[in-house]
Amino acid sequence: MKIIIGNDHGAVELKQRIIKHLESKGFECENIGVDSDASVDYPDIAEKACRQFNDGGYDYGILCCGTGIGISISANKIDGIRCSLPQDCFAAQATRAHNNPNFIAFGGRIEYKDKVEDMLDSFFDTEFEGGRHQTRVDKIMGLEG
Ligand code: RB5
Repeated sequence: MKIIIGNDHGAVELKQRIIKHLESKGFECENIGVDSDASVDYPDIAEKACRQFNDGGYDYGILCCGTGIGISISANKIDGIRCSLPQDCFAAQATRAHNNPNFIAFGGRIEYKDKVEDMLDSFFDTEFEGGRHQTRVDKIMGLEG
C-alpha cells in the first residue's frame, strides 16, 4: 500500500505520527508536506499531493492541516479526488464503505474523541461496499466540471 501524504504547518506532528503508524503496518509513505512550523498555504500542498496522486503510483492520499477542513476543501476541487474528513472511527469506517474516497484528511489542531491512528485503522480495515454506493459515488464524480 503506497500513500502520498501532505500537510501544512498546522499538522506537522500529526503527519509524523501518521507516517510512523502506517509504516509500522507495512505501508509505504511518501511525504510531500512540510516538516517545520514556517507558514505555508494548504491549497498548494493539496494541489501538489492530488496532482501527484492523479499521475499514478499511489493507492491513497492523506492530507492534514490545522483543522483538516481547508486542505480537504482544496483537494475536492481537483478532478478525480474524493477527500473525506472523518470525525471519528465510525465515520472513517463508513466513508470507506460508502464513499470510497481516495484521500482522507485530518486536523492537527483538532481534539478527536478517537485517536487518528484508530481512525486510520478503521478506514483501511474496511472494504468499499459497491452496489448502491457505487451509483452514488458515480453521481458525486458526475458533478465535476
Ligand atoms: C493555518 O493556520 C490553518 O488555517 C490551516 O492549517 C487549516 O486549519 C485551514 O483549514
